Amino acid sequence: MVTEMKFDGASAVVTGAGNGIGRSIALELGRLGTRVLIADLDGDAAAGAAEEISAAGGTARSRKLDVTDYAAVESLADEAFSEFGRVDILHNNAGVTWRPFRAVWNATLADFRWMTEVNYFGVVNGVMAFLPRMREQEGRKQILNTSSMATTSLTPGHGLYTAAKHAVDGLSDTLREELIDHGDDFGVTVLYPGQITTGIGERSRDIRKLETGEDLSQGIAYVQVRDAKWAHNEPKTAENVGKQVVEAIVHNDPYCLTHPAPIEYLEARNQLWVQGYRGY
Ligand SMILES: NC(=O)c1ccc[n+]([C@@H]2O[C@H](COP(=O)([O-])OP(=O)(O)OC[C@H]3O[C@@H](n4cnc5c(N)ncnc54)[C@H](O)[C@@H]3O)[C@@H](O)[C@H]2O)c1
Repeated sequence: MVTEMKFDGASAVVTGAGNGIGRSIALELGRLGTRVLIADLDGDAAAGAAEEISAAGGTARSRKLDVTDYAAVESLADEAFSEFGRVDILHNNAGVTWRPFRAVWNATLADFRWMTEVNYFGVVNGVMAFLPRMREQEGRKQILNTSSMATTSLTPGHGLYTAAKHAVDGLSDTLREELIDHGDDFGVTVLYPGQITTGIGERSRDIRKLETGEDLSQGIAYVQVRDAKWAHNEPKTAENVGKQVVEAIVHNDPYCLTHPAPIEYLEARNQLWVQGYRGY
């Protein structure tokens, strides 16, 4: 059993919090009196989010950071522990996507590596750099990792991204069990955003162009043959995600969804697993 999270006076680190979902989370934590360190590849956006928290009476710092650079993430952890004395909440949220969608057979190994470096190793780097020192602290701790509702359903054309996010799910579920197994006062939550209107498509294209010179919009777009609609593709703004995340921390929910779960698909998938064992 984990103890209560006392947000007022706690300290948090949120990656990718210069914009969109992460920014909403950082603002909500700041509003509750949590001291927030905001890290983002876009240093100006990170500084803007920190200023917004400070202007509202909260405490925040910002730092330009690339989550794929382990040494930089380790130095982010050093800064957080030396500034705040402890880190109660770590949210590994930074991520990139792929627009337009692309079939697996039209992707390159470099595409898979890029997507995995940011969306999976960005999370791994955060966990590895912060977890040992967080485990040494007394009191409640929480790690949150941002996945996607793409892993709770099927999105043809989004295989690169979905595969990396499934890796986040696997890491998070296992880490949660290990911490329970060892009696730690430490929760792990996976955030599953559905369709949230942020600038992620354009931002990801800009980031890739800056890093490699490649223009993602020039690739062969996936042609959707069968019609597939999910309730989680109903667009919402990022505004309430911070509140949803705080609720999930309060209840130590393993999963935090921004949209309803695709229950029929999930049940049908479970049935396929059950049927998949043919004996012998
Ligand atoms: N918006 C959606 O519909 C949606 C759906 C499912 C999952 N997600 C996930 O939610 C998270 C946040 O997405 P968002 O929609 O708020 O996107 P966003 O682009 O608005 O914000 C993401 C932030 O991450 C930063 N970032 C990108 N690469 C980085 C790196 N290497 N190091 C540090 N920072 C980096 C960007 O600069 C940006 O500020 C991502 O992990 C994304 O995959 C979003």
